[in-house]
Amino acid sequence: MKINISERAFKSPASAIRKLVPLADKAKKKGIKVYHLNIGQPDMATPKPIINAIKKFSRDTLEYAPSEGIHETIAAWQKFYHDKSVKFDQSEIIVTSGGSEGLILAFLTVTDPGDELIVFEPFYTSYAIMAAMGNIVLKALPTEVETGYHFPPKVMIEKAISRKTRGIVLCNPNNPTGTMYTSQEVRMIADIALKHNLFIISDETYQEIVFDDKKVLPFMSFTKLHNQLIVADSVSKRFNSCGARIGCVASKNKEVMAAIMRFAQARLSVATVDQLALIPVLINSRQYTEQVKKNYKKRRDMVVSELRKIKGVSFVVPEGAFYIMPRIPVDDSDKFAEFLLNDFSDHRETVMIAPATGFYKNPQKGKDKIRIAYVLSEEKLQRAIRLLGMALEKYNRKK
Ligand SMILES: Cc1ncc(COP(=O)(O)O)c(C=O)c1O
Repeated sequence: MKINISERAFKSPASAIRKLVPLADKAKKKGIKVYHLNIGQPDMATPKPIINAIKKFSRDTLEYAPSEGIHETIAAWQKFYHDKSVKFDQSEIIVTSGGSEGLILAFLTVTDPGDELIVFEPFYTSYAIMAAMGNIVLKALPTEVETGYHFPPKVMIEKAISRKTRGIVLCNPNNPTGTMYTSQEVRMIADIALKHNLFIISDETYQEIVFDDKKVLPFMSFTKLHNQLIVADSVSKRFNSCGARIGCVASKNKEVMAAIMRFAQARLSVATVDQLALIPVLINSRQYTEQVKKNYKKRRDMVVSELRKIKGVSFVVPEGAFYIMPRIPVDDSDKFAEFLLNDFSDHRETVMIAPATGFYKNPQKGKDKIRIAYVLSEEKLQRAIRLLGMALEKYNRKK
């Protein structure tokens, strides 16, 4: 007799970004160079102090860290926020295994099975998997390429709120769109949360990566909101250290933090060496994030100027993170992504992109869009986007 897994495990969506990997591996085996624009893995060097701290680790025993995090690492996160004029006490921060764990803990802390969280579509794929883990319903409100994926009007958001709605999840600037929500938009979400007594789960993974002298208005600047706000954060992107697996969850709501602590005790602790290694950059963050931001701005400009040359591609220039989600002239972005890896190359080179279908609750909505992560040098990006243009022509000629 077949033994079944749980329905929630069975129904959990697969990561949209990774499903094309076997095709890319096949292309590489054939000797084709693949430019990876499909995944948010920065190519820049991890800051030296992180690498040096790992190399110099010299304790005799690799002990468990405290469940809430190593005291000095919590203090380092506190300093990181202080430098952004955001004040958290040490008791209001728990170190997590990447931003991902913080988000999972936050989702599970504010919902019961069947409860709803509002997200804005297209959204970061893992939110759907995290929701599936807790039998949480994601209410996805649409945003459109024509308006740069900015929020729908307030009435539309309020209309989506039901008795089951527990919170709003958002990332500013956003993955997968690169949109930076304006101060007015942040204020609007804060107003809605206050009026309807909802939590805000603020994913701040990319917060410093914004261009053209723009600056994200942090939800923490609304004192009235403090009891309803949970910040989930990460060192991965801003310090080019995705493999360190360090993040944090922070909130002024004592009940929330006590609950997250109980969950955190079940996984005992976060890796000791990585927690220690991140301290020097967290306490001196600007030194690193300023350069990261400058590099991504140049890359964004390169991608935008090359995309503009391709007929039928439309987008609004993104303001932050390192993603862009243009509409492209194809019938099916999944098929096009496969075509790039299976059937196209120019001088034995091709490009890998993420079809937008994986970022929508209803995949149909992503059939005419792709997500590009501009995580390569400008020179490589120029070549990669030109390859994309050639491939589009060939794909459409084939039909
Ligand atoms: C929007 C967003 N949130 C959270 C994360 C989680 O990052 P990590 O677990 O590496 O900190 C990512 C990673 O890509 C992301 O794009």
